[in-house]
Parts: sequence; structure tokens; C-alpha cells
Amino acid sequence: MNGERSGTLPVRIEQDVVLARQLARKLAGECGMRLVDLTKLVTAVSELARNTVVYGGGGDMDWHVLDEYGRTGVRLVFRDEGPGIPDIKLAMTDGWTSGNGMGLGLTGARRLVDDFELDTTPGKGTKISITRWI
Ligand SMILES: Nc1ncnc2c1ncn2[C@@H]1O[C@H](COP(=O)(O)OP(=O)(O)OP(=O)(O)O)[C@@H](O)[C@H]1O
Ligand SMILES: [Mg+2]
Repeated sequence: MNGERSGTLPVRIEQDVVLARQLARKLAGECGMRLVDLTKLVTAVSELARNTVVYGGGGDMDWHVLDEYGRTGVRLVFRDEGPGIPDIKLAMTDGWTSGNGMGLGLTGARRLVDDFELDTTPGKGTKISITRWI
């Protein structure tokens, strides 16, 4: 059966990062995701939601529970209308930060999920989609 549930959570302030984590944990749990995979997804959500608040000036997290031809998964899309990322290659380098971070959020998040898509336009904003399949 194909079906999809979806919604949107605002990610504007630091506390919203906690709500984003909780929602990701709930959705993954409902799908029956194994604890180890669920923990990876929640860790990626933490990093991307924090970036949305800190660098993106706030945004939204769209969530989707995917059920495609018997394949179940959770997709989370972080959107902001902040400054964008001028140099994606640099931003996707371990240890590079434009601020006071460790520069490990984006690269870490990419390693923790099955699918990672980054779309950004300087001056317009950033959209990052992550998917973890069951
Ligand atoms: N949503 C975003 N909008 C604009 N720039 C971003 C966004 N997300 C990340 N960046 C840029 O990419 C850089 C790398 O992000 P990353 O999460 O890997 O590291 P960090 O946030 O600097 O440090 P850490 O996450 O390890 O604490 C950031 O320093 C920032 O310049
Ligand atoms: Mg970060």
C-alpha cells in the first residue's frame, strides 16, 4: 500500500530543536525503526534543526512518513530563508565552521542517514532533506 502522512513543525528558537528531536523520535518509533537507526536519525535532526536556528535565522521542518511500495521510512526537510550557504563544498568539509561550532553538523548528519540532499541559494535560503528507511 502506498500512503503518506506529513506535516510541518516550526523551527525558530532553540527549544524547537528539542521539539524537532521529539517528533522525529515519535515518527521513527511509530514506523518500527530499530533503536540504533532511530538514534542516528534523531542525532541528524538535532544538527540540522540547530543550523536552521543558528544560521538560517529560523525556518520549518517538514516531516513525511513514507510508505512506497512496501518501503517505509521517515523524511525530514529543513527549510529556511536565511543567507544560504555560499560554498557547499567548504560547508560539507569536516571541521569547517563559519561560526563557533565544530563544523561537524552537516557532515555528521549526512553520514547518519540513507539520503541527504542539500539545496541552497545565497541570499534566498537553504533546504536540506534527509531520509532514513526502515
Ligand atoms: N541553514 C544554514 N544556513 C546558512 N548556513 C548554514 C546553514 N547550515 C549550515 N550552514 C553553514 O555551514 C557551516 C557548517 O555547518 P555545520 O553544522 O557542519 O557546522 P557548525 O554548525 O559550524 O558546527 P557544529 O554543527 O559542529 O556545531 C556553518 O558554519 C554555516 O556556515
Ligand atoms: Mg551545525
